[in-house]
Amino acid sequence: MLYIGVDLGTSAVKLLLMDSEGKIKNIVSKEYPLYFPHPGWSEQKPEDWWEQVQAGIKELIKDADKSQVAGISFGGQMHGLVILDKDDNVIRPAILWNDGRTYEECDYLNNVIGKDKLSEYTANISFTGFTAPKILWVKNKEPENFAKIEKIMLPKDYIAYKLTGVHCTDVSDASGMLVFDVKNRKWSKEMCDICGIKESQLAKCYESYEKVGTVLPEIAKELGIPETTVVAAGAGDNAAAAVGTGTVGDNMCNISLGTSGTIFISSKNFGVDKFNALHSFAHADGKYHLMGCMLSAASCNKWWMDEIIGTKDYAAEQKQIEKLGENHVYFLPYLMGERSPHNNPNARATFIGMTMDTTRADMTQAVLEGVGFALRDSLEVAKSLGIKLERTKICGGGAKSPLWKKMIANILNLKVDVIESEEGPAMGGAMLAAVACGEYKSVEEIAAKVVKIIDTVEPDPELVAKYEKRYAQFKEIYPACKPVFEIITK
Ligand code: XUL
Repeated sequence: MLYIGVDLGTSAVKLLLMDSEGKIKNIVSKEYPLYFPHPGWSEQKPEDWWEQVQAGIKELIKDADKSQVAGISFGGQMHGLVILDKDDNVIRPAILWNDGRTYEECDYLNNVIGKDKLSEYTANISFTGFTAPKILWVKNKEPENFAKIEKIMLPKDYIAYKLTGVHCTDVSDASGMLVFDVKNRKWSKEMCDICGIKESQLAKCYESYEKVGTVLPEIAKELGIPETTVVAAGAGDNAAAAVGTGTVGDNMCNISLGTSGTIFISSKNFGVDKFNALHSFAHADGKYHLMGCMLSAASCNKWWMDEIIGTKDYAAEQKQIEKLGENHVYFLPYLMGERSPHNNPNARATFIGMTMDTTRADMTQAVLEGVGFALRDSLEVAKSLGIKLERTKICGGGAKSPLWKKMIANILNLKVDVIESEEGPAMGGAMLAAVACGEYKSVEEIAAKVVKIIDTVEPDPELVAKYEKRYAQFKEIYPACKPVFEIITK
């Protein structure tokens, strides 16, 4: 049988076709626009996602035996607010996970409702990118749109709805809405009241590997797949990536270097850190996870290469970098503000430490290292909770770079296990579909069977010591710049 994994990302949708043994048969990517209508705002059109998903599926399976397509599932960009009216039309463009407009709503949730109450109801506090503050923003700033809301969905759930006609979501993605009681895996009545919504406006919540329906006959015909094709709920892209890299069960780690950068730690048990600096979410394997999320990771490198230096040859630029651990230039990677652990939409990206002998390669190196140091900030929070990690998996576009993997291994002092394919969320989506179709009994079973480690990047003690010193210096920069960020963003 064949399974389709759809990774509904921020810059593109990536689609992957996998067979029963977990072999990748094809991969296709389709881009769509991202809109920044104001500084710090970030939006996309759900209609664009749907158009590109359909085009992508057709291209993905064009040379395959279409009658063998048995299931489809997802990894989707998290937290995005998609609102539908009574006729299931999209009311306004989706407000995305890296949008910082909800500063006031977050302040209300964290400081008037209170972080302790939010943590009690949902296991998390409010971050500007989360969904609940966006619901409040629409309520406060666009009351005419708020009045029209019949259904509130997350990005990938809109695609599941278009495929099946079912309003659904899954526990991992629902966790990032701040209206979900993560511990008990159900909607929070208290949070619905705080946001001024009814539970009936939210979608039915499934485990990630559960079937939500089959493809609507007219859609099946359009895509050329069987009407019996099962659609499984899928997961937020980080939980799906964790499935795709075999980060399931207890105390496993995955780092994703995509538009965002995340450090994801799976756990058999529910847990919350004292200051909610890490997100405490439900995992796609039926258990839980902790996660730190930085808003700009591989996107920092993309911005530096494409927009500033003006090159597409990332490898050539990285070849010029020679002396790891000896760079005296630093880069704060806060191009969209920052989530974990600073929770500050007013944080900004900064280069610091240049001298007359600073080269273009030093600056490129600083960008790559800055992302590594910022991931280390979240790892430090995990360590402070007593979590002990020796190794991590890695996925996402940035994981293609051997140099970046080496930096990550040494900055974080973790062994980095490299998987056969860095397509974490799309692979995870296809694997969830295979579980929903009964091909495998559980997410853990399919992960053990199909995920293959092909290489490990070992930290080098000498380099680890050098980076330890650099990290101690990096840590001083954000607190020193913070008051300036508040002034320059006024
Ligand atoms: C996670 C997060 C991002 C997006 C990226 O909390 O906001 O990783 O899911 O697609």
